[in-house]
Amino acid sequence: MTTLVIRNIAELTTNDPSIGDESSLGRLRDAAMVVDDQQVLWVGPNATAPDADESLDANGCAVIPGFVDSHTHLVFAGERSDEFEARMAGVHYDGGGIARTVDSTRAASIDDLREGTTKRFAELTAGGVTTVEIKSGYELTVEGEVRDLRLAEEFTTETTWLGAHVVPPEYRKDREGYIEVLTSSMLDACAPLAKWADVFCDRGAFSIDEARFILESARAKGLAPRLHANQLAHSGAIALGVELDCASVDHCTYLDDRDIDILSASATVATLLPGAEFSTRSPFPSARRLLDAGVTVALATDCNPGSSYVTSMAFVIALAVREMAMSVDEALWASTKGGALALRRDDVGHLGLGARADFAVLDGSRAAHLAYRPGGNVVAQTFRATFTATDVST
Ligand code: NIG
Ligand code: FE
Repeated sequence: MTTLVIRNIAELTTNDPSIGDESSLGRLRDAAMVVDDQQVLWVGPNATAPDADESLDANGCAVIPGFVDSHTHLVFAGERSDEFEARMAGVHYDGGGIARTVDSTRAASIDDLREGTTKRFAELTAGGVTTVEIKSGYELTVEGEVRDLRLAEEFTTETTWLGAHVVPPEYRKDREGYIEVLTSSMLDACAPLAKWADVFCDRGAFSIDEARFILESARAKGLAPRLHANQLAHSGAIALGVELDCASVDHCTYLDDRDIDILSASATVATLLPGAEFSTRSPFPSARRLLDAGVTVALATDCNPGSSYVTSMAFVIALAVREMAMSVDEALWASTKGGALALRRDDVGHLGLGARADFAVLDGSRAAHLAYRPGGNVVAQTFRATFTATDVST
């Protein structure tokens, strides 16, 4: 096992409150960190850093935990930039374009799908992402969803079955028939390949009762629930997510006081996806109200070809700061520790002792540069621990 010491870190964010300034960011200035191939072994003042097999000079730059992007739809083929342009000219987003991506994904060869997914994964990684959740949901057939989850498994253990994205065109006149497929043959085939089950529970997709039935069926097959909630309307999906003890309810574009009360009394994370509000010209959710009520907030890219073709967590942070009244530190925490909580992981999203050695060295002395220099290459280097399959906790 090789050890590495990173010296001359101007600002080290650990997200471990027992370290440094004892804030939730666990911040140390003039710091150093020692890792091996797998985990964080030591953090402390630069002046007292121990020697290691290898040494890296951070040269006065900031170091942060690797981003945990807890919501993506990376497996798809094709693109829908024409819809984006139409929305910028005033057309409303209603999820109807999902069917176009279903068509192009079904038609794509596995090699083409893998190539596109690899490219997007590489963009996320270059931007500091070290843990990524990947959903299926753009084939909506038993074989197709299996194919997409198998591909997702090549990139992550955080795989999510989203067979209940929308009712596919061939079942448009028989939604009960599709729900029967979802909860029987498709679930049986997909459950061994996924950790999570997700449902797009919203206007034009699946109802509250349908979503409850699908997620309960999935839970009975060993999948843990999460939910696309309140992206398009006040649907009641947030209450459902809490009722089912979902790890996370995602989007939360539309929030009322009751939603916030329910979330604040729960262990369910509110995952905000400001790339989607940006790309659909929707109102941004009130992160401030959630945070002030004590709700755990995560930020993620929602990378998908329709509502948010975003592969930069720094851009998400910039949006959260500029458009959702989050401080840079709140947005950084939500993109790292918050994302980890949204995936119910305690080994990532922080750099406390024993954490996975997943971190990013920035080009800039403070993490604030992530929001301060939008569109710039603020992440200089991404480090991801090398784990064998059995070492990865799921
Ligand atoms: O998270 N809302 C549902 N699913 C995706 C968008 C899908 C699409 O438009 O292709 C989302 O925004
Ligand atoms: Fe999504």
